[in-house]
Amino acid sequence: MKIFLDSADIKETEKYRHLIDGITTNPSLIAKSCNQVYSEWLDTVVHLVNGPISVEVISSKCDEMISEARKIADIAENIVIKIPMTEDGLRATRELRDLNIKTNVTLIFSPNQALLAAKAGATYASIFVGRLDDIGYAGMDVVRTVVSLYREYHYPTEVITASIRHPLHVIEAAKAGSHIATIPANVMSQLVRHPLTDIGLQQFLNDWGRFQCAKKGC
Ligand code: E4P
Repeated sequence: MKIFLDSADIKETEKYRHLIDGITTNPSLIAKSCNQVYSEWLDTVVHLVNGPISVEVISSKCDEMISEARKIADIAENIVIKIPMTEDGLRATRELRDLNIKTNVTLIFSPNQALLAAKAGATYASIFVGRLDDIGYAGMDVVRTVVSLYREYHYPTEVITASIRHPLHVIEAAKAGSHIATIPANVMSQLVRHPLTDIGLQQFLNDWGRFQCAKKGC
């Protein structure tokens, strides 16, 4: 499973760039983290990460989405255009595919929506598991179903497990066969840590200190 960082924060990107295969952003993340001029931020991030960088369109009409997408996609080869899961969005996805522009259809909450995104020719389909869990649905069930549907019908669209809230989401996404998990920085750091690692490391250091001391006779 590939790992994307779900962040528009340059410091977080620098911190995890050796572990990640790409980046996803959305307008809320950019509004929260981007304290640079937007174009400067984008120019920095496309060079920082050697992989797809998803940037979302703001327009809601098909023609406007396409012209916005073309401008953003012109900035760098690794840009992927995030398109919302709407009627206009699906039409734009098909047209962008025909223009050889990669898309990430976002805000997917059901297998039927994911099926339509694949039919439209999306490069990626982002399933928001955390937001489904929040309203009492099992988000990961949608991921499992979509992965098996895409396999069954040989759709090349890759599943992104998005809206990840905790480490369990990551391992469950991997077990479900998700192609990608897009992970926020706080969850990335939770993945690294384990209390037994901390205790074990401390013990090694203490034992080494005692050994050095015994040698020197202190
Ligand atoms: C995905 O690309 C989205 O940016 C993100 O995962 C949304 O997550 P949230 O539900 O925590 O806002």
